[in-house]
Amino acid sequence: MKGVVLAGGLGTRLYPLTKVTNKHLLPVYDRPMVHYPIQCLINAGIQDILIVTGGNSAGDFLQLLGNGADFGLKDLSYTYQQGEGGIADALKLAEHFADGEKIVVVLGDNIIEGNIRKAVQDFEAQERGAKILLKEVHDPERFGVATVDARGGVLKIVEKPKQPESNLAVVGIYMYDARVFEFIDQLKPSERGELEITDVNNFYLRDGTLTSEVLHGWWTDAGTFDSLLRASNLVAEGGANRLDVGAGGRRA
Ligand code: G1P
Repeated sequence: MKGVVLAGGLGTRLYPLTKVTNKHLLPVYDRPMVHYPIQCLINAGIQDILIVTGGNSAGDFLQLLGNGADFGLKDLSYTYQQGEGGIADALKLAEHFADGEKIVVVLGDNIIEGNIRKAVQDFEAQERGAKILLKEVHDPERFGVATVDARGGVLKIVEKPKQPESNLAVVGIYMYDARVFEFIDQLKPSERGELEITDVNNFYLRDGTLTSEVLHGWWTDAGTFDSLLRASNLVAEGGANRLDVGAGGRRA
């Protein structure tokens, strides 16, 4: 399986920190933010990784990450997102890299305590479709929110609902088969003018091929002042990508 780290966007919620640099180059405790999603993929056993960047300071990613040797990788791939088209628009750029294989996509500002290796193995064994990871949060209105049935099957996903039906946020780590690029081609921009990853997940849901697991260990994004501070504190206190717990066994 191949990995994709989405590290584009303008990072407007962190302005002026992102006035001259890319959000994913900002520090989270003792490392640049983008190190965490890369390490997350590597810990899951994924070595073939594409960085999708965009916006400011794109060249700095090359200087920071080079060919991936600091992570023990043989090589690292890069591509560049023009403009601000949203997460699904950025993912579209990975089609050539994926070359028909399944992919694990990690948002560049998502940091987890644990290891997703087991979920990735489960998805490898899944014949087709997609897998999402869910996590209980106190502020679901900031995220994609999943409604699940008594057995944990996903019934619907709503992007940033004003009145969330559950407190289960959709984590920014997604596993897709090659159909993801077909689905992206059918997307229409949302109210915020972006191609939403939630709409991609809902395509798989309607297709009956979306599975989910609940993530163990802490998870945070780092795209707002509060979550950036929280991310640094969580890493400082307990480290990221260190807890070898995998994800629980809920299936849709
Ligand atoms: C994005 C997704 C959202 C997901 C979140 C995870 O939100 O749209 O569904 O729950 O990442 O961090 P954004 O960061 O674009 O607001």
